[in-house]
Amino acid sequence: MHRAVVLGTGSCLPERVLTNNDLEQMVKTSDEWITSRTGIRTRRIAGSDEQNYQLASRAAVMALESAGISGAELDLIIVATMTPHMIMPSCACFVQAEIGAEKAFAFDLNAACSGYLYGFDLADKYIASRPEMKILLIGSETLSARVNWEDRNTCILFGDGAGACVIGGSDERGILDSNLFSDGKLWKLLYMDSPASRNPDLLDPDRKGCFIQMSGRDVFKYAVRAMEDAVSGLLDRQQVSMDDVSLFIPHQANIRILGKLMERVGVAQEKVFINVDKYGNTSAASIPIALDEANRQGRLQKGDLILFCSFGGGFTWGSMLMHW
Ligand code: COA
Repeated sequence: MHRAVVLGTGSCLPERVLTNNDLEQMVKTSDEWITSRTGIRTRRIAGSDEQNYQLASRAAVMALESAGISGAELDLIIVATMTPHMIMPSCACFVQAEIGAEKAFAFDLNAACSGYLYGFDLADKYIASRPEMKILLIGSETLSARVNWEDRNTCILFGDGAGACVIGGSDERGILDSNLFSDGKLWKLLYMDSPASRNPDLLDPDRKGCFIQMSGRDVFKYAVRAMEDAVSGLLDRQQVSMDDVSLFIPHQANIRILGKLMERVGVAQEKVFINVDKYGNTSAASIPIALDEANRQGRLQKGDLILFCSFGGGFTWGSMLMHW
């Protein structure tokens, strides 16, 4: 059977860097508090010519170059995002127009921070039925537009950016297995209300509904336990141990979550790709940005076993194993 294999990667980060010292001027916080609680030192903030679909398209162009194919050869574009440029049309349709992917069909997928793993899983299913397909999978977010810059509990955590992979079929390498979960009962612990059919009032005077709402401590607790279970369940099912894994690329939420997770799943820090210090939590973009950086740093060799895991609003979470 053919599986989804990554043919090329790309990423795009906004120019503007927002430091912890900058945040000290905006809310009652300190570089020391943010660094010790989250590991985040800087994050990127999109400017007016860095809308979600523009970041996504720039990451896509890089991924196409790295795969050595043109936009015209793509069959499908999926954008994982929870901050689309518009509700309709999808961000994926904007990208399609930008990169001249005329024969591709295109749609968005929202599974919050787990969107990229859900997208990989979906791409793998398309490849199983049509191995010749060329799929562009992007994770792209402009969370800065959805953060309350007066709320120190959340505004320190998030950043903007995009990452992309071109995916094809292989009967030797590619996605080995994925282990995905959701629990909608817990939605109130992490959510963003508007704009959505539930609350279409964009003119909400205090814009409260537009912002990310979070119970930080609860999210922390669930995230560690859920990712641990998703990883250990997958390793057990595939009868592989952490020693067989060459690189672990987790969702970059925050360093304390990652630290606890590494401890519980028993992985050495050298095997874990971490860039949350530079970009903060970029939600669906965090895994593809990390994957592109790991690729460009030469940390991925053909045949290596790569482990991914994620956790986000919904709740949604999961893990995935891939032979590079
Ligand atoms: N600067 C200074 N103080 C802050 C602060 C900030 N940026 N944010 C919160 N505080 C304060 C709180 O107001 C509280 O003060 P109080 O005791 O006077 O009420 C105190 O710090 C402790 O708050 P608490 O929320 O209990 O802190 P915490 O140790 O849980 O750390 C998070 C907060 C958000 C860093 C932590 O809960 C976390 O990482 N949660 C997971 C978030 C996440 O990753 N979400 C996305 C998942 S995809």
